[in-house]
Amino acid sequence: MPRKLFVTTALPYANAPFHVGHMMEYIQADIWVRFQRMQGHEVHFVCADDAHGAPIMIAAEKAGKTPQQFVTEIAGGRRQYLDGFHIGFDNWHSTDGPENHQLAQDIYRALRRQGLIAERTIEQFFDPVKGMFLPDRYIKGECPRCGAKDQYGDSCEVCGAVYTPTELKNPYSTLTGATPVMKASEHYFFQLSAQRCIDFLQEWTGQPGRLQTEVLNKIKEWFAVDEHGHGALSDWDISRDAPYFGIEIPDAPGKYFYVWLDAPIGYLAALKNYCDKSGRDYDALMADPALEQIHFIGKDITYFHTLFWPAMLKFSGRKVPDRVFVHGFITVSGEKMSKSRGTGISPLRYLELGMNAEWLRYYIAAKLNSKVEDIDFNPDDFIARVNSDLVGKYINIASRAAGFIAKRFGGALSGDVGVEGLSVLDALRAGCSDIERLYEEREFGKALREIMLLADRVNEYVDQHKPWELAKQAGQDAVLHRKSRLSCASRRCASPTRSARSASTRSASTST
Ligand code: MSP
Ligand code: ZN
Repeated sequence: MPRKLFVTTALPYANAPFHVGHMMEYIQADIWVRFQRMQGHEVHFVCADDAHGAPIMIAAEKAGKTPQQFVTEIAGGRRQYLDGFHIGFDNWHSTDGPENHQLAQDIYRALRRQGLIAERTIEQFFDPVKGMFLPDRYIKGECPRCGAKDQYGDSCEVCGAVYTPTELKNPYSTLTGATPVMKASEHYFFQLSAQRCIDFLQEWTGQPGRLQTEVLNKIKEWFAVDEHGHGALSDWDISRDAPYFGIEIPDAPGKYFYVWLDAPIGYLAALKNYCDKSGRDYDALMADPALEQIHFIGKDITYFHTLFWPAMLKFSGRKVPDRVFVHGFITVSGEKMSKSRGTGISPLRYLELGMNAEWLRYYIAAKLNSKVEDIDFNPDDFIARVNSDLVGKYINIASRAAGFIAKRFGGALSGDVGVEGLSVLDALRAGCSDIERLYEEREFGKALREIMLLADRVNEYVDQHKPWELAKQAGQDAVLHRKSRLSCASRRCASPTRSARSASTRSASTST
């Protein structure tokens, strides 16, 4: 039975170009999607820019642009990365699109009807010069414990103390330098602490196969009841006051949805936009019980995707996610990527240098597994892996036979492989179901190890039969034709890590 899959990757903030961490996530998801498509399944694979929020609003202002202009320009830069690394999204949308405004407001109204939205007055730091409430990251001051200057509102980098912004001594706004004042404002909360939410989330997270073990263990900590007998899930503040770049809350002038409320709804908006553009029926697709909804995300945003997001969907009467696949972070030579420290590799620079996107896809795939483990990009290891496996084993097979097949046999394969050839082919075919299972489980590293073992088998066969010697002998054409055939047949299993495009250009040079 062909499966129907709705697959997403996390929506990147529209405030910067992609870094290799983004590309790693897209490559992981793209391989999985490509595999599903090769199996004959129907896949709708979408993503979008995450356009809203205070940091983007502030960055736009600094750049002298409207937030809309700012995010449109960032969005304009996406294609070269996605095409460059052969990422096969069906659609790339924006959370500022009309579909998302509509869906976010609909979902909010439904949650309100369910009695899950509470209004509460809270006090927060306000920048009187700028005239806006300050997110914690824009407040600095002196550490309440050691007195170190210029510490952020949550913790001290000098002594390690953890506190709230209101505990800082001599706090100041990093936007204007002004001393922030406490100001009250009405906020809207999604009542995640309601028993029916907790019951639902216990049930949803506990479904076998839905979440990775490590993720489930983390969630158990979040659910844990404290010493006072209170559940650890607290209500979620979903509103922000103007000025804010976001979606207006219905019936609440001057209030906007917190960016994390409308961001995951952007998954649905991206799918809806895709359906509308391609003549598909979005409502029918979402109503199809066979549709599997799957999100690829990084470990840092697990909370949003395994608690808030399923609860929002459930209590607004919508389909809930079937699987959330969480991956670890990629580091570069063991270091966290950091623009200021100049670490990290720019994916565009990689392409500009003339490096092949397949090499990075292969290297990342070879390191990935189904766990929430960090992986490291190490330049020497990268070169070694690409040369030994991809070039030395896999491509080697085709390159050893392509010449004969093209020049001597008009690019046509022999119908016959011979007895020995058949036994190698049988071994390759026998390996397929294990490899398929490994792809399905996102055990790409293991899948590629299996594939490389098969590549070894084929190379051994070629070594034994030395087609280059046959080629020199008169009257051996049929034998040569037969022996070169295997090189092409053996390419079938390994394809999902490789892009359709380069597979076709390569086969163009080998078989036509
Ligand atoms: N905008 C939010 C996601 C909203 S989803 C409804 C966000 N954006 S992000 O640009 O910061 O991150 C996008 C994705 O990239 C996330 O899944 C994040 O975990 C992932 N990564 C960011 N840095 C990464 C690495 N160094 N390595 C691998 N993935 C990383 O979060
Ligand atoms: Zn301190």
